[in-house]
Amino acid sequence: MGIRLGDEAPNFTAKTTEGTINFHNYLGSSWGVLFSHPADFTPVCTTELGRTALLKEEFSKRNVKVLAVSVDPLDKHLQWVNDINETQHCIVDFPIIADENREVAALYDMIHPNASASFTVRSLFIIGPDKKIKLFITYPASTGRNFVEVLRVIDSLQLTANHSVATPADWKAGEDVIVVPAMSTEDALLKFPKGLNIVKPYLRYTPQPE
Ligand code: BEZ
Repeated sequence: MGIRLGDEAPNFTAKTTEGTINFHNYLGSSWGVLFSHPADFTPVCTTELGRTALLKEEFSKRNVKVLAVSVDPLDKHLQWVNDINETQHCIVDFPIIADENREVAALYDMIHPNASASFTVRSLFIIGPDKKIKLFITYPASTGRNFVEVLRVIDSLQLTANHSVATPADWKAGEDVIVVPAMSTEDALLKFPKGLNIVKPYLRYTPQPE
């Protein structure tokens, strides 16, 4: 059975472009994004890793450490990083795991045999500081991921971890949020001093808490 939300993120020790890393130790008290791509020296993956590098400040201001993984060897990763830096005008300085033995891919169910028998699909896991899986998405090789969307869901996950709110469709940081159904309106009025917009008894908005 694959990984599910709320499961502990499997730990591993692996060779990466930033040295050998024990995953849980590396994350420490940070949030984590672990994402796989099918292979080195491929065009969509090149843009994805470049985009991630260019968003470095956005990940670090959210206290998120990013790690990429593919089943190619370390020397290939290191050569490919030069190409990514050159073509995407960035500096890749997050670890890329060399998962030649497919150990990380197996732990995270990143090989989907009906898509490709040997390469990882585009899996992405967001891991909380408690090392639990908070979100995962899986894209096929042909479709590059949207890393602004990844930041958006991290904003939602971090907000909803700390307040009794949920975020509506297409929500972006700073917009109104929804009071969770489990909270009574009486309690919500006390908890959210900026006020409530009660559209239906079950659909109650409040400005984003600080
Ligand atoms: C790519 O990253 O460009 C890619 C990889 C495998 C299949 C198709 C595209």
